[in-house]
Amino acid sequence: MIDASPAAVATRAQPAAVPLQLSVVVPTFNERDNVELLFRKLEAALAGVAWEVIFVDDNSPDGTWQVVREMARRDPRARCIRRIGRRGLSGACIEGILASGAPFAAVMDADLQHDETQLAKMLSLLESNAADLVIGSRYIEGGSADSFDRQRAGISAIATQVAQKALKIEVADPMSGFFMIRRDRFEQLAPELSTQGFKILLDVIATARGSLRIVEVPFTFGSRLHGESKLDSMVALDFLGLVLAKFSHDVLSLRFILFALVGSTGVVVHFVTLFVVLKLFEQPFAEAQGVAALVAMTSNFILNNFLTYRDQRLKGFAIVRGLLLFYLVCGVGLLANVGVAFAVYNEHITWWLAGAAGALMGVVWNYAMSGLFVWRKR
Ligand code: GDD
Ligand code: MN
Repeated sequence: MIDASPAAVATRAQPAAVPLQLSVVVPTFNERDNVELLFRKLEAALAGVAWEVIFVDDNSPDGTWQVVREMARRDPRARCIRRIGRRGLSGACIEGILASGAPFAAVMDADLQHDETQLAKMLSLLESNAADLVIGSRYIEGGSADSFDRQRAGISAIATQVAQKALKIEVADPMSGFFMIRRDRFEQLAPELSTQGFKILLDVIATARGSLRIVEVPFTFGSRLHGESKLDSMVALDFLGLVLAKFSHDVLSLRFILFALVGSTGVVVHFVTLFVVLKLFEQPFAEAQGVAALVAMTSNFILNNFLTYRDQRLKGFAIVRGLLLFYLVCGVGLLANVGVAFAVYNEHITWWLAGAAGALMGVVWNYAMSGLFVWRKR
């Protein structure tokens, strides 16, 4: 029974007796069977700490958000952010941390692979001002990732090396999904972070460029309790994009790099189609070139919809509308490309530089306009 007497209501309306110390941010996608248990584990691990947990759910089909809402109704330490029309681990973590009012925020997986018993230690390192960022590390003495199969262990090791070398990062486990950070420091970095991809910690470390005092604490990466991993081959692409973006000091964005990569596959598709239509179907050049351009644009559109903009993927009828708009954007892009190339060429600059300038103009135009009109944020 809920006590609705005026006295009881007044008590509930009081500000918290102890100010909030820690928000635990948990991104979720199809984790219905894990969230309750995680909550109870946090409760046990954080006795004596004023904490809350913010689940950021991307409208999971399994109804994770409904389970969390019910928890939140019973206990205000559980909070739920339900995002609609968006997908992505990094973006979910960013929104969760920004929704917190606590001075410190932790990020951890919902599937109980991270060790919640480390949280108190991580918090005391931050509260004593010994660090700005504490990482739960698999790759230092005392930590491990035994639950990984050979293949994933190998990939993880290579990716870690690449990140460390390319971005001059000294942290042993920059790809960990388990960390705790001062919220004020995070808030400063947030506008520069990528909402796409899986590697939020790597992004935070690279974006901070040495301005964070980092401490690693060892933990054992356990096995997933219920459900399955959402890590797929796309994650590798996102990862490379992130490293390139940070390597270029954010001159190149992850999305732009993916868009340009897709564009270069389009060149290949174009020439293959041109060859097939010309040689195998023996059509005249103008027709063949037209078909090749159409096929290349269509394949670019499909790839961009699956890769570059997979967090905003167009579905159903929106695909047709998007495709037509994409043709339009690319058509104008081609004019811009040729125009710029001509202008440069007329300045008596070598043909290949003029061509490159045109191509660059084309891809920048297509990218900017596609973002505005084809995959615009609803
Ligand atoms: N909101 C939201 N949106 N949450 C997501 C999404 C998404 O698109 N994708 C995954 N999640 C949630 C999962 O529900 C889970 O709670 C957490 O993010 C981690 O996802 P997993 O699918 O369990 O990833 P993993 O265990 O394979 O990878 C973990 O370990 C890696 C280190 O090897 C993650 O912590 C990675 O960030 C980490 O790099
Ligand atoms: Mn996991």
